Amino acid sequence: MLTQKRIKRLAKKHGTPLFILDHEEIRENYLRLRKHLPRVGLYFAIKANSDPQIIKTLYPLDSGYDVASLQEYQLVLDNVPRKNLRGHNLNDFIWDKIIVANTIKPAATLKQITNFNTLMTYDNYDELEKIVKHCPDAGLICRLKVQNVGSMVELSSKFGVEPGDAPELIEKAFKLGLSVEGISFHVGSQCCNIENYFNALEASAEVFKQVKSRGHKLRLLNIGGGFPVPYDDTVPEFEVFAVKLRKEIDRLFPKSIEIVAEPGRFLVAPAATLVVSVVGKSLRDGKMVYYVDDGVYGTLSGVVFDHCPYHFNAFKRGDAKISAVVGPTCDAFDTVSTAEMLPDLDIDDMLYVKNIGAYSIASATNFNGFPKAKIVHVNK
Ligand SMILES: Cc1ncc(COP(=O)(O)O)c(C=O)c1O
Repeated sequence: MLTQKRIKRLAKKHGTPLFILDHEEIRENYLRLRKHLPRVGLYFAIKANSDPQIIKTLYPLDSGYDVASLQEYQLVLDNVPRKNLRGHNLNDFIWDKIIVANTIKPAATLKQITNFNTLMTYDNYDELEKIVKHCPDAGLICRLKVQNVGSMVELSSKFGVEPGDAPELIEKAFKLGLSVEGISFHVGSQCCNIENYFNALEASAEVFKQVKSRGHKLRLLNIGGGFPVPYDDTVPEFEVFAVKLRKEIDRLFPKSIEIVAEPGRFLVAPAATLVVSVVGKSLRDGKMVYYVDDGVYGTLSGVVFDHCPYHFNAFKRGDAKISAVVGPTCDAFDTVSTAEMLPDLDIDDMLYVKNIGAYSIASATNFNGFPKAKIVHVNK
């Protein structure tokens, strides 16, 4: 955990906006997941933060990678040590360590990876027709539509086949001569509602049973991501969450079934801190509005796309007053928060935001010409 003093020192040295990424924290989060879910193989979801250094940091820990596009697939291959793939040849590494977890893949992408056996998800028949034509040696994972109740980011309105229709869709893949390895689900990102996992696990177990009764055997269950990060005190403690999850997995799935997950947020969100500077201030309708040098078009884009309510911490002490914090662009939509408790700040005073490593720089833009935050890696 970075101290306030170190955060300030780094910001003074490098300027703001500054995105400080702590690789020791990434390693700790990975090992924490491994410790509390020992049966679960981990594939880091690159979409959460595709900085190449993260791929490198996770490689020695034996992490796999969940990729959503050909570009992310290539990013992994470019950043793992191709000459020393832990005894794997490239084909075996791809089979063991990469999952293409986007159920919809352009035909061009399938053609590009057709020479490798790659695990990939699907949830509809048209996708199967594409796969059989362009990438018939893929290993398939059928994604189920599951309950995402209360999750910060909902995914099931766009992805997954209804569990009741899954056995038929799996059978269709086998009939096309494809190989289905297992099934997957995603309970929604930042899922604090463990019932979502319980329902999804029950539904998955039922699909395993149905598929078996049709004479096919599945070997893999992918429980997706969603593991919650403590953005505030209401988030359940992960250790308690994990015990329940572990017990339910063991109750429903024999040891012969391989269990994997695709965590994104859990590994990287707590590992980054953003430091911004106040570049302007204005009293508007009796409330102080601070204009800072990063906003919703930049690192704080998660406010929009990730539905994540970020909060600012001041280095300065003093009586806290309710204030608004807005970004630097010419758009009023670029409002990060209308209710931050902050002391009186002057131009050039700095603020910092914790837990901002996931879905932040991943969706930042250069709108209005403002440069993206500088990234500084610590504890590499
Ligand atoms: C298919 C898939 N897998 C994994 C993830 C990562 O989820 P999380 O960041 O909640 O761990 C996502 C996030 O959107 C996803 O869509």
